[in-house]
Parts: sequence; structure tokens; C-alpha cells
Amino acid sequence: MDTRQQNPEQSAGSTETVAHQAAPESQTQQAIEIRELWKVYSSSDVDLDVEDEELVDSLEESDESVVAVKDVSLDVNPGEVFIIMGLSGSGKSTLIRCLLRLVEPSNGIVRINGQDVTAMNKKELTEFRRHQVAMVFQHYGLLPHKSVEENVAFGLKLQGIPKKERLERAREALKTVGLEKWAHYLPAALSGGMQQRVGIARALVVESPVLLMDEPFSGLDPLIRREMQDELVRLQEEMHKTIFFVTHDLDEAMRLGDRMAVMRSGSIVQIGKPAEIFANPADDYVARFVQDKRDEIRKADEQMAELAKAQAAAEKVVD
Ligand SMILES: Nc1ncnc2c1ncn2[C@@H]1O[C@H](COP(=O)(O)OP(=O)(O)OP(=O)(O)O)[C@@H](O)[C@H]1O
Ligand SMILES: [Mg+2]
Repeated sequence: MDTRQQNPEQSAGSTETVAHQAAPESQTQQAIEIRELWKVYSSSDVDLDVEDEELVDSLEESDESVVAVKDVSLDVNPGEVFIIMGLSGSGKSTLIRCLLRLVEPSNGIVRINGQDVTAMNKKELTEFRRHQVAMVFQHYGLLPHKSVEENVAFGLKLQGIPKKERLERAREALKTVGLEKWAHYLPAALSGGMQQRVGIARALVVESPVLLMDEPFSGLDPLIRREMQDELVRLQEEMHKTIFFVTHDLDEAMRLGDRMAVMRSGSIVQIGKPAEIFANPADDYVARFVQDKRDEIRKADEQMAELAKAQAAAEKVVD
């Protein structure tokens, strides 16, 4: 069966389904609410009517357009680390960018801490981006001719914070990520892992309640990556931010995520706790993500069993 054609609501297995995600308006305010979000990239102007199935089908089939995000609705709780996982091209970056309208959604509503981002005018949006949400990208793009501390303080400059205060806060943020000694260096003097830490300090310093992270650790080698994950877990214990985190990596998702959503061809196919999804993948696509990890665990179990057997045999000989 071609699972790509399945309705995600039908395919979400026994874990929490997409249909159950949208909280009624009367419930406690969610940190991030996404409702019926769509993004169609197209070389020509498209007047998207999401109810028009024929139009949607033709957009999906056309070479001139890509339906990158397709009818995504989900809620993220305050203080939650919410992971978006999916194969390359499944729409993760488009989705996370739509949250701040770095990519303009074609349809739908995004509310962050109760504020309707999709209804904001340009000025409101700029203000909102400066104060309410910080974003960390895979390649952070530090300003090469500015010192590490100036890079970190840059967001505060945009907020109009006086120089003395912003440098003090930048140093504080650098301390949090263990880089206080590097404040006066240029970014080029730092390793990849350290530069990514600067990126994180830069996101932390604005003290926004929401943090968006698009594969922030993907460019790092495995050991450093693990260190950075541990560091994020440690920081989150103090910060309690709402974190929306994109990754390809199931290990990373399981280490960091309170809940995760799996994307395929622009749609969400399953939402749940990482361990639930691991135990109960909704369809073949999700199972493929989980399979490598299962193989790893099975091999480790087999090795442990072999070891136990060898030990028992050795003990018998001694007896
Ligand atoms: N600016 C753009 N114009 C046209 N198509 C785009 C644009 N950006 C992304 N796409 C297409 O939209 C789809 C989703 O891309 P997106 O970058 O969101 O996926 P992704 O899940 O983040 O992938 P990756 O894991 O490789 O980063 C892909 O088919 C991509 O080619
Ligand atoms: Mg991406």
C-alpha cells in the first residue's frame, strides 16, 4: 500500500492522533497553536482554496508548484520541547519558518502565546520577532567581523537596549554556554561546536519565551553533538522555554523531546511521546525511522545475552 496517500488521521495508530491535537478554544492557552496551516511554493500566483480538492491535487502533481506544508494543525504546551522529524524535503524547515512568517503561509493560523502571528502587520511582526521568539539555524551565520560578544548582543541592539546593558547580558549568556573567555574573539577563531554555542547564546540573550531550532546540531560531529544535546537539556531545566526543534535524528528526538510529530510530504502523520512512537509506529514510513534504532537495540540485547551466557559458562567451570 502506498502510505503516502493515507489520511494521517486514519493512520496514526494507537498513539495520540493528529485529530486529537487541536485543543478546544476554552482550554488553557497553548504556547504554539497551529491551525490548518498550508504552504504552497509556486512559480505563479496561486489563490489557494484548501477545500478545493481538485486544485490541491493539481498543485501536488504540477512541476510548477510544491505543497510543502499540508493542513498541519498541532498544539505545543508551554515549557515543552516539541520535535518535528521527517525525511529530507518533508516540509520541516518550511513549517518552522511559517511560524515566524519567514516563509509566508498560504493558509492557516499560527498563534504564539496567544498572539495571532498570521494577523500581524509588518511592524507588529518585527516587534514580535525581536522579543517573543528566538531562532537557531543549522548554520547560524555569525557576523564575521564582529566579536563573539557583539554577535550575541546584536539582538539586544535591535531591541534598543543600551550598550552597557547589552554587553553585560551578552557576557552572562556566554557564561551560560561556557564561552565567557571567548567574548573578544572573532567567530573564525572558534570551532564549529563553539560557534553553534554562540548561536545558542545569541538566542538565549533575548530572553524570549519561545525558541525555534532548525537542525541546530546537524553540522556537528557526533561527540560534540551529544555534548550540545546534554547542554540543551541542562539549560532547559533552568529555562523552561517552549522549544520547537527540527531534527532528522531519532536519537536526538528521544533525548530531547517531550513530544514529537513525524512529517511526510508536508503532512503530520503521527504525534506522540517519542517512546510511544518508537513502540507503536503509525505506518511504514514512521516504522522506517524507528527500524534502525530497533536494530541497534536488538544487537545490544543479543550481545548482552551472549555475554551473560559466557559468564554463566565461566562460573560453571569455576564451580
Ligand atoms: N523557497 C522554495 N521554493 C520552492 N520550493 C521550496 C522552497 N523551499 C523548500 N521548497 C520545497 O519544499 C519542500 C519542503 O522543503 P523543506 O526545506 O521545508 O524540507 P525539510 O524537511 O526541511 O528538508 P531537509 O531535511 O532537507 O532540511 C521540498 O520539496 C523543497 O524542495
Ligand atoms: Mg530543513
